[in-house]
Amino acid sequence: MKQPLVQAFSEQINKEYFSAFLYLAMSNYFANNGLKGAANWTYVQYQEELAHAQNLVHYLHARSESVSFAALADPSGAWSSPLEVFEAVLEHEKLVTESIGHLATMAMQSGDHAAYIFLQWYVTEQVEEEGNVNDLLDKLKLANGNPNALLMIDSELATRTFVAPVVPGVGTSA
Ligand SMILES: [Fe+2]
Ligand SMILES: [Fe+2]
Repeated sequence: MKQPLVQAFSEQINKEYFSAFLYLAMSNYFANNGLKGAANWTYVQYQEELAHAQNLVHYLHARSESVSFAALADPSGAWSSPLEVFEAVLEHEKLVTESIGHLATMAMQSGDHAAYIFLQWYVTEQVEEEGNVNDLLDKLKLANGNPNALLMIDSELATRTFVAPVVPGVGTSA
């Protein structure tokens, strides 16, 4: 692979690990604020983000390339409501979508068809990520801070379980 593309993959890997770390911080916030369902949902998302990062690592290894790891930023946020947390989630996922888009464009422009095809899974995944958060934000806005409604949403979020994503091109799973 061309080295600027490998470097861009490494930067994306850092962003996916940061995403994991951010969701873990959010899970911590919910666990400390009586919303165990939201703590579960964000913890499952933390596991998904780890899998996103790991599959990118596996991909570089499959191409006989090495990853450059970098320090992760502090994920703590000054959130004061579930709505604020999920608004921060949407904002963050939009940045990740943009970043994946740039990476795919770079793969295409370097003539690396294999990397471009591999990245399609991530392009599609981002549509789902933003869609899920948008649905959740709609519900939270409807709840409008009502504790009963919030607890109903929370019990729904408690049912989410982690299923390791299967990313074509890197074997079965993370
Ligand atoms: Fe991700
Ligand atoms: Fe994500």
